[in-house]
Amino acid sequence: MAVETETGTNGSLVLAVNGERFELPTIDPSTTLLEFLRSHTPFKSVKLSCGEGGCGACVVLLSKYDPVLDKVEDFTISSCLTLLCSINRCSITTSEGLGNSKNGFHPIHKRFSAFHASQCGFCTPGMCVSLFGALVNAEKLNRLEPPPGFSKLTVSEAEEAVAGNLCRCTGYRSIADACKSLAADVDIEDLGLNSFWRKGESKEVKISKLPFYNRDDKFCTFPEFLKKEIRSGIFLDSNKYNWYSPASVEELQSLLKVNDIRKGCENKIVVSNTGMGYYKEVESYDRYIDLKHIPELSILRFDQTGVEIGAAVTISKVIETLKTENKHQFLPTDEIVLNKLANHMEKIASGFIRNTASVGGNLVMAQRKHFPSDIATILLAVGSTVDIMSGYQFERITLEEFLERPPLDFNSILINVKIPNWASIRKVSPENNTTLLFETYRAAPRPLGNALPYLNAAFLAEVSPCKTSEGIMVNHCQLAFGAYGTKHAIRAGRIEEFLKGKLLSDDVLYEAIKLVRTIVVPEDGTAYPAYRSSLAAGFLFEFFSSLIDGGAEITNSFLDGSGSTSLLKHSKPEQKDDQYYQKKVSKMLSSSKQALELSKRHYPVGEPVTKTGAVVQASGEAVYVDDIPSPVNCLHGAFIYSTKPSAWVKSIEINPKSNPGGIAAVLSFKDIPERGENVGAKSVFGTEPLFAEDVTQCAGQRLAFVVADTQKHADRAANCAVVEYGMEDLEPPILSVEEAVKRSSFFDVPPILYPKPVGDISKGMAEADHKIISAEIKLGSQYYFYMESQTALAIPDEDNCIMVYSSIQCPESAQIVIAKCLGIPEHNVRVITRRVGGGFGGKAIRAMPIATACALAAHKLHRPVRMYLNRKTDMIVTGGRHPMKITYTVGFKSDGKITALQLDILINSGFSPDISPVMPHNIFSALKKYNWGALSFDIKVCKTNLTSKSAMRAPGEVQGSFIAEAIIEHVASTLLLEVDSVRNANLHTYDSLKLFYKESAGESLEYTLPLIWDKVAESSSFNQRVQMVNESNRCNKWKKRGISRVPIVHGVLLRPTPGRVSILKDGSVVVEVGGIELGQGLWTKVKQMAAFALGSIQCNGDGDLLDKVRVIQADTLSLIQGGFTAGSTTSESSCEAVRLCCNMLVERLTPLKEKLQEQMGPIKWEMLIFQAHMQAVNLSASSYYAPDMLSTSYLNYGAAVSEVDTHQSKVIGKHVAGKLTMELLIKK
Ligand SMILES: Cc1cc2nc3c(=O)[nH]c(=O)nc-3n(C[C@H](O)[C@H](O)[C@H](O)COP(=O)(O)OP(=O)(O)OC[C@H]3O[C@@H](n4cnc5c(N)ncnc54)[C@H](O)[C@@H]3O)c2cc1C
Ligand code: FES
Ligand code: FES
Repeated sequence: MAVETETGTNGSLVLAVNGERFELPTIDPSTTLLEFLRSHTPFKSVKLSCGEGGCGACVVLLSKYDPVLDKVEDFTISSCLTLLCSINRCSITTSEGLGNSKNGFHPIHKRFSAFHASQCGFCTPGMCVSLFGALVNAEKLNRLEPPPGFSKLTVSEAEEAVAGNLCRCTGYRSIADACKSLAADVDIEDLGLNSFWRKGESKEVKISKLPFYNRDDKFCTFPEFLKKEIRSGIFLDSNKYNWYSPASVEELQSLLKVNDIRKGCENKIVVSNTGMGYYKEVESYDRYIDLKHIPELSILRFDQTGVEIGAAVTISKVIETLKTENKHQFLPTDEIVLNKLANHMEKIASGFIRNTASVGGNLVMAQRKHFPSDIATILLAVGSTVDIMSGYQFERITLEEFLERPPLDFNSILINVKIPNWASIRKVSPENNTTLLFETYRAAPRPLGNALPYLNAAFLAEVSPCKTSEGIMVNHCQLAFGAYGTKHAIRAGRIEEFLKGKLLSDDVLYEAIKLVRTIVVPEDGTAYPAYRSSLAAGFLFEFFSSLIDGGAEITNSFLDGSGSTSLLKHSKPEQKDDQYYQKKVSKMLSSSKQALELSKRHYPVGEPVTKTGAVVQASGEAVYVDDIPSPVNCLHGAFIYSTKPSAWVKSIEINPKSNPGGIAAVLSFKDIPERGENVGAKSVFGTEPLFAEDVTQCAGQRLAFVVADTQKHADRAANCAVVEYGMEDLEPPILSVEEAVKRSSFFDVPPILYPKPVGDISKGMAEADHKIISAEIKLGSQYYFYMESQTALAIPDEDNCIMVYSSIQCPESAQIVIAKCLGIPEHNVRVITRRVGGGFGGKAIRAMPIATACALAAHKLHRPVRMYLNRKTDMIVTGGRHPMKITYTVGFKSDGKITALQLDILINSGFSPDISPVMPHNIFSALKKYNWGALSFDIKVCKTNLTSKSAMRAPGEVQGSFIAEAIIEHVASTLLLEVDSVRNANLHTYDSLKLFYKESAGESLEYTLPLIWDKVAESSSFNQRVQMVNESNRCNKWKKRGISRVPIVHGVLLRPTPGRVSILKDGSVVVEVGGIELGQGLWTKVKQMAAFALGSIQCNGDGDLLDKVRVIQADTLSLIQGGFTAGSTTSESSCEAVRLCCNMLVERLTPLKEKLQEQMGPIKWEMLIFQAHMQAVNLSASSYYAPDMLSTSYLNYGAAVSEVDTHQSKVIGKHVAGKLTMELLIKK
């Protein structure tokens, strides 16, 4: 059979990566491009984060060569979903390929680093490639030449280039600035803080300081050697790879028939495999059939009857074609429909998904698996049809019928979808006094970039002015709703029927909306059901209401043929008014100003220098734990975790039927060495077992650790593990705080951490004019979503020693836990951490079990063992933020002054103590930012059968601040007072601050909050803006704005930290600190401090010592007592430790310097150090900074003003911020 024969001389899979040729004689066809790049090439810039196409960390540029047109097509893709065999003879460019430390960095890398657009850096290579993809394609456009140093990109395209690339650390403003700095139409003064420019420099100087982007340096995305190979016509040998690419429908039919004959042979039909982002498949297939090469499925054709879209056509191609194709066969109204469809499709996923995702794949997922598709809904509203092939049969049915059918069988193929030309169906024209209205709607957690909708809708209506009375008549309408928790998108037939022939009025619309509420009913178990139904009503209201409100005017405009209804006005295609046309609605950030006051007193401390390592983070050369090459014989691990919160574990087995092979061992608590302990994590409050023993304590608890030859095999083996549970004689699990209270299941809080009440609560309540009694707040949990998931690599060493590379915020604690678990002394355990790809508290306690499990397996098997947790496992086992329930009673005066607050707080801590007993202290530290008069409370740390909750970004303080603001808002709304006045009335005086915060309140002069409070109001023009907001709300029925000013008090706790500074013979300096670089810039600050403190020796002609300093990775055997990196104080104390070391060195060097200076005159740093080495001066100094009692704990103050826009018809029941402006002032 043609498709199965070898068509080339060798038929191997060949790719070019960054210009290098890679030939793979064999490969499992389920291998993704990401797996290949990370395990078969030296290019590690391509990061695995979500593995679902949702974050952009793995984005690469894919280039395809068309030998007939001699043309290269370049577009970004997500490598985590792209199957390697589907891109045979393509070229890949990764961030290292753009530039690197050897060959020089690309201006994109340099701009990302100097615009401070990279913190932990895990997302940065993907961002750089996304921007590069946009740049390459903009340069191909026939546009005016941009000014020298700039590209043909527009500002909005530059911003949009990274839509869909997730960053969890860096503010998007700096990322957007780095991107916009390359755009031809950028206003250079609009760009934010960077380390290129100095204050007051002219525009010209600023431009000249940007790393030059030379458009003449043509970047080759497709190497010549591969073009030659393609021209010689070598294709993939299907049999060798089990990968089939039929070139015609007939070939496809034959392949499917073979499948019929060979029962039991499993085919996987693929186009671009992005469906795997949503529906993870763990099984492997016998054969893959790629539909991309069949002409009928790749067609995109316009004719009199409509638009035919082949099922394999990508969403990006459809958008581009619908927007740009000459649609002379269509009436303007039809053109508008097509443009609106394209606009809606631009909100689907992200550019790097749309570039490969097919329309057919989307519709089949919607039909077969009830995927909440946008495409199904919008194409349903325009009355589309589909062609389906089943065996040798073809049929055309409506999209509605297609969606309603039973799931498509696996041998049936969707060939195309057809959007009808409305003008050809119904006579809609100004001459007939009829017009076509079309609008699509979508509400999602984020408007752009990888967020599935809560609900989508599309409405098409043919309307005309009523002949007998004023008003608008609905002649015909098609209303589609989808993604609201329904099996598939639906047409709201009953509403369509109801509206048909009706004159639009408030009553008619009201009846229609009542019908919506009976039709759009989410299925049981759907999140936010009420919100989704009300959204549907809101969308329908928005569509029709302006036809009622502006009836007369609209009627007139119909009659004069302009068709300028408000809806039609919006529907008009965007005008290209100039070369670099701006989209009317800015899709990302608008603008902001940053003002920074610098002082040279401690230079270079405080300078906004480029973050250390940012440029290698951008190029992808920065080494994270999973980038360390695997040592020989390395094994990979995965956790088998419990699915029951409380159950006997009777047995754990790998299902032999789905065993992926390559398994080396399955370890459980029974494998812990005799002298060791079953411990996986510890805090000062207690330990947590590495594995459950006889009875599980929560769903998500680690039961065993399966170790295999590859990460994929380990993950698959863990996935197919069969655990036999028993429930006999067990109490039901405690799954809520209420149940924990009933069963008195609590963790102890040490008295020193239990907050103290303030004042006399009965007296305070008695003084109140009003009371709110027993109001309730419930706060949920939250997952960390560090871009780098949990990971470790353990390597056994001689004499029972072990070395563990861990992505952790506290290597010292991991060292202690590993030693305990293995039953070996702590000096046998070396834990090394260079950098962490985002931690947010989740890589403190929660990273220890990962390091310990790898160490245990490595110790037992005498082989290196590593693990990179897949996102699902990470989310299930890691815990996250503490959920809690708060009940409060508050008493207050009529002017808003609060006199007493009584709280009952139940904190859900999960099954192990972790850091939970510190939560009461943290909650109250933030909550006491207001003077509550008297404050009393009961707070319980509940032990439940859930995964252990842990530190997460300001643990407790986020909740404390939220509770405080919720109470203030509640009081204000009860009294009908402006909330700002209630905040004002309850801000602390210094006296009340002392009462609430005791010693940490400091001196009265240090209480700067009232100053900040006024200053932020002034700098943000708060009072004027309040008036403007009130005025706007008075005038606008649907669009509402809100503004608020909020204070914050943050209690800081310093911890002891070690440091060591050593000066090498050439004058370069190496620094070690206890703190870990998590992206917060700790290394940068430490370097600045070292340069400042050593600079006090004042050698001549040194220039900056900054470039001479290198901070190296944390190593628990080199620098002990490293402690925790947490609580926003580690940089501060690490800097102090380094300053102490530098002072010692300066003291040792000063006598020598003075002596040399006398003999030789001014002396250079290098000479001084050389001489010091010669004269045996000790050039290494260590310190252990232990803060004194007075500076251990103090308060920080801040205030912010934020303003939001909302649209009422879209936010019923939920707040969606349209625009946010913020003024922020923080000062100690
Ligand atoms: C991160 C992310 C975000 C997304 N966001 C959205 C969103 O907001 N809105 C939305 O509507 N969609 C969204 N999607 C879905 C996306 O549009 C689909 O994944 C994509 O269109 C599928 O196309 P594909 O070519 O990759 O299909 P594949 O993954 O290759 O195939 C998908 C399924 O369809 C089958 N199949 C494919 N083509 C055919 C055919 N012609 N005949 C029969 N069977 C076929 C395959 O066997 C497979 O089962 C998102 C996807 C991702 C990964
Ligand atoms: S998009 Fe591929 S890892 Fe997230
Ligand atoms: S810098 Fe973007 S995820 Fe950390």
